[in-house]
Formats: sequence, structure tokens, C-alpha cells
Amino acid sequence: MDYTIKDIKLADRGKKRVEWAFQHMQVLKILREHYGRNKIFKGLRIGCCLHVTTETANLVINMRDAGAQVFLCASNPLSTQDDVAAYLVRNEKISVFAKHGDDKESYYKNIKKVMSKEPHLVVDDGGDLISSFHRNISLAKNIIGATEETTTGVIRLRSLAKNKLLKFPVIAVNDANTKHFFDNRYGTGQSSIDGLLRATNILLAGKTAVVSGYGWCGRGIARRFQGMGARVIVTEVDPLRALEAVMDGYWVMPMSEASKIGDVFITSTGNISVITLTNIRQMKDGAILGNAGHFNVEIDLSALEKAARKKRNVREGLDEYTFANGKRIYILGEGRLVNLACAEGHPSSVMDMSFANQFLSLKYLKEHPELKPDVYQVPEEVDKKVADMKLKGMNIKIDKPTRKQAEYVNSWELGT
Ligand code: ADE
Repeated sequence: MDYTIKDIKLADRGKKRVEWAFQHMQVLKILREHYGRNKIFKGLRIGCCLHVTTETANLVINMRDAGAQVFLCASNPLSTQDDVAAYLVRNEKISVFAKHGDDKESYYKNIKKVMSKEPHLVVDDGGDLISSFHRNISLAKNIIGATEETTTGVIRLRSLAKNKLLKFPVIAVNDANTKHFFDNRYGTGQSSIDGLLRATNILLAGKTAVVSGYGWCGRGIARRFQGMGARVIVTEVDPLRALEAVMDGYWVMPMSEASKIGDVFITSTGNISVITLTNIRQMKDGAILGNAGHFNVEIDLSALEKAARKKRNVREGLDEYTFANGKRIYILGEGRLVNLACAEGHPSSVMDMSFANQFLSLKYLKEHPELKPDVYQVPEEVDKKVADMKLKGMNIKIDKPTRKQAEYVNSWELGT
């Protein structure tokens, strides 16, 4: 283990924050109590590449309590919370290979450390760990299966599977209803605004906010901007989504037009160069740009670096670029995931459902070693169970269909 802890206070702070998060993770609590007793992962090694946050800490503690040996590296160098890593290593004896601000070399070295443990199950967020195993397949010999957390990772894996290159089964946790309806929409929605505000402390009321991409994340971000009093513009390439944004009440226009009027820009498309240098040159002095997509490729930062005359850090998570004509452009969290680079990621309450899907999908993989290499959906019964447990944890009761209602619905299904 190369994570040496000198500061007991750091671990102690991590402990309190992890416990606070756990208070809002009712489903993980139910799973911890249940599977902590029957040790479903006994004898298994689980390799995880996840944002090292208080929520992830609770997931890996659940795995450990269920009998697994867990090895964790980061899925983004800026999202690692060092107090959480310290707490996991010191108090929970869980191996963490991550430090906040790791450079590219250390980031990949840490991924290799997890790979060297030759895990049986793999949990990924963004696809870096799974793709690294595909480049070094001898270390994948024990793998029963893997799970993937994000839209971006699932897209990468589907392309591997389509080209018959995928070497083990992967469950697309992102696609579970109890994941993307909540995590992507309410989680990214709230935490992206949180990141923007922590880094800038600007007033959103009366500002013009541009949201690029109207998938589940974009929908959530646009809603929260609107709720804070901003005028919202959506840019899209998909006509159906663009239409939905129009009917949800937003202005829709190309980036070439939006760039001239926006005060704040957040990208969440999963694609590259959504905001180009040409767009940036058209922006107002003082425009603020951030990215909520998994990779830092949505804003053309390398072109901006080259074109700007001066760069300086003005606040934590906020860099100012000045052009020769005096115009200033501000970039949040180096163009990396704004919610994790400038804030703490999604609130525990939504990660609870995402990570319950992760945990139960790992259990499913372990119980189905016959699965062939492909990308699989989270089993419907798992999705439903997570929704039921979340409602139970929130102490919310719902109606049950009567026998008559069930018969009526079924008779329609039979077409009579
Ligand atoms: N992804 C987004 N928010 C997260 C969080 N709080 N913990 C782990 N992964 C995340």
C-alpha cells in the first residue's frame, strides 16, 4: 500500500463525513445489514475505479462487510477526497490508490495497482479500468464480470461489444431506471450548480445560462438553473431532444448563437469540442465555462491555452484566461466534471440508489458465471427492488393494485 497516512485528523474528518453521508443512504444501510451477515462476496477480490467520495466509501465498506477484499483507485484525479481515502485506509483497512490532484502518470499507475490484484469483480466509472484490462488481458483472468456506472462508460463498452472485443460480461448500471432518472437528472443537476457556485459565488438570478446536451444530465442542469432564476438556453444536435427542450420551456439555438449571449455555459454531451475557440471568441467578457460530462474534452481547452495571452488561478477551481484584447474567460475545475472537481459530487441520497444497483449487480454477476462477454442491463427485479427499498427507507408508502385491478390490467395484456 503506498498511501501513507500521517494526519490522523484527516482520517477523523473523513470518518465523520462518511458517517454523515451514510445517514442519507437508506438502501445501502439495508444491504449492509443483510449481506454483512451472509457474506456473499467471501473470498472475492473487487477492483473499483470510482470517484473517491464519501458515497463511494460507503459502497466499498458494504462490499468489504459482505466479505470481499476491495481495492479502490480514482476515476478522476480531481474528485478524490483525501480525507475519505485516509479514513478508508486507516480505519477500515481498505486499499485506496488515489490522491487528490494526481497527474496523468500517477492516475494510470494507480489503475495498474488495482489491476495487479487480479480481481474477480470490477466496478468502473467511465471505462478506464475496464479498457486498461483489455490492454493487459493477462491480468483479467479471474474476472467474472464488471459493472459500469456512467453513460460515457456504457457507450465505450457497447462499442467494444459491437466489435466483438469485449472480454467479459459488463452490467450497464447507468441504464437502470433507479440510476439515471435520479443520479443523472437530480444528482448532476444539483451538484453541477453546486460546483459552479462554490467556485464563483455568482448570483444566478437574471443570468443567461447555456446548457449543452439535453440528455438526463442536461435536463437536470437546465431545471436547476431555471429554479435559481436564470434564463436557460439549450443547445442540442438531436432533433427529438431539442424539441423536448423547446416544449420544456427553454430557448433552443446553435452554439454559434448561444455563445454570444450566454453568461454561464455548462456542457453535458459526452462529446468533444462542443465549445470551440471560435465560440469562445464570440463570448462576452467574463463568461464562465464548465463541463459536466465525464471527460474534459467538451471545451476546447488546448486551443484556449494557446490563444490566451495570460492565465491565472483566481479562486479555488476557477482559472481566468485573458486574450490580447483584454477579454476574460473563466474555466471551472480545469474543464473536468464540475460537480466533482469544484464540489463533492452528487448528494448521498441519489448515490444511494446508484450504488445499490452496483452492489446488487455484482451479486448477480457472481451468481451468473455463465454470462458471455456482452453489455447487460441491470435485471428488472434489481431495479424494482432498489425503488422499493428507497421508498421504504424514506418511510413512504404507496398503493398496491387490488386483485380486481391486477386482473383488469392482465386482461388487457391478453388483448381481450
Ligand atoms: N459520481 C457523481 N457523484 C458522485 C459521488 N458523490 N460519489 C461517487 N461517484 C459520483
